[in-house]
Amino acid sequence: MTMEYESNSRIWDGVYYYPHFFGGLMLTAALLGVSTSYFGGIGVFSLPYLRSDSGIFHKKKCEKKKLVRVYMDGCFDLMHYGHANALRQAKALGDELVVGVVSDEEIIANKGPPVLSMEERLALVSGLKWVDEVIANAPYAITEQFMNRLFTEHKIDYIIHGDDPCLLPDGTDAYALAKKVGRYKQIKRTEGVSSTDIVGRILSSAEDTKTREDNVDTSSPKDAHKAIQSKGAHISQFLPTSRRIVQFSNCKGPGPNARVVYIDGAFDLFHAGHVEILKKARQLGDFLLVGIYTDQIVSEHRGNHHPIMHLHERSLSVLACRYVDEVIIGAPWEVTKDMVTTFNISLVVRGTVAEPNTLGETDPYAVPKSMGIFQILESPKSITTTSVAQRIIANHEAYIRRNAKKSASEKKYYEEKTFVSGD
Ligand SMILES: *[C@@H]1O[C@H](CO)[C@@H](O)[C@H](O)[C@H]1NC(C)=O
Repeated sequence: MTMEYESNSRIWDGVYYYPHFFGGLMLTAALLGVSTSYFGGIGVFSLPYLRSDSGIFHKKKCEKKKLVRVYMDGCFDLMHYGHANALRQAKALGDELVVGVVSDEEIIANKGPPVLSMEERLALVSGLKWVDEVIANAPYAITEQFMNRLFTEHKIDYIIHGDDPCLLPDGTDAYALAKKVGRYKQIKRTEGVSSTDIVGRILSSAEDTKTREDNVDTSSPKDAHKAIQSKGAHISQFLPTSRRIVQFSNCKGPGPNARVVYIDGAFDLFHAGHVEILKKARQLGDFLLVGIYTDQIVSEHRGNHHPIMHLHERSLSVLACRYVDEVIIGAPWEVTKDMVTTFNISLVVRGTVAEPNTLGETDPYAVPKSMGIFQILESPKSITTTSVAQRIIANHEAYIRRNAKKSASEKKYYEEKTFVSGD
């Protein structure tokens, strides 16, 4: 995979950006605010609304000390909070984090078809608050040539990888060279979640729906509870800790006179559509508060096999997004007067693209509507949790095969796992 790009960067609002085009493009923090336009053509920019004084990007004004730049790559297919946590740890090893996103072609060649396209994966990675720059179409395995390019052209100081061994097709360590020159640093693997595990949950929930459709009584709350339980017991290994939530939090309330915008939803299988609508919502105020429905509410409204990701997992994914200031972990279905008062909410928004709800009798936005503080936002993307799940279900045979192989190695990992310190 050859990377082509222009090396003349410009400084704009204190933020670097690079002109870019297909076949190897480079985006920087400023561009991370840009929607899909960068992918549709060459040099199409929307001016980032995020300026250095907006409180989102804290770019250092006086850059006297040389910044340590670290690089981490990945496929980021079905990106989850485990990826986010890895990038958070990587960022902590330097000042600026550059992330390589592996190309569709390379994923197909090495792992089979990705669930999410390059554009969607870029949107997700760019939306993470720890990511400063993104290199699209990175190679699957770091070649010597690409590594030298990282060091010389991208000014990378360290290449970061998880503590799981990463072998090249010939059986050698993919990071041997970086290690030899002392430019390698390691982070601890995030426990409890993997893309393989998520694909497994989607496939088993599809299976579950099918058997349920064959049986009667699909809607009793007891069944819903059982479905959630079995999902948790069989697949999720995630142990939510308060520490992790703190690591992902901004730990800051709205400033004085801040305009608080509220958006709520399930935010299940956090995807590019979520990133885009959160960005749009954030632009309407100074502080974005996101209400994340409880698992029970999601099950009641979307069916027993939902949500795929538990409340705490969904909360971490939303918290990792750069446009989000605060989340309510377990928000009610209806936006109440009390909530509006408690959080000083100025505006309640929702996107035009949403999952169908099976219970339609009450309007959850009746209160904000009556107060004249409700607004519908055109969703920038049509992708939904269901459509992501559908892609996997539609290709289920390929994914089952791919998953069986991965699941075996995951199982082995868990059996042989020993304590590793770090976070
Ligand atoms: C509540 O929000 C409004 C903006 O809608 C703001 O002017 C006001 O200062 C906020 N109140 C407090 C106490 O921050």
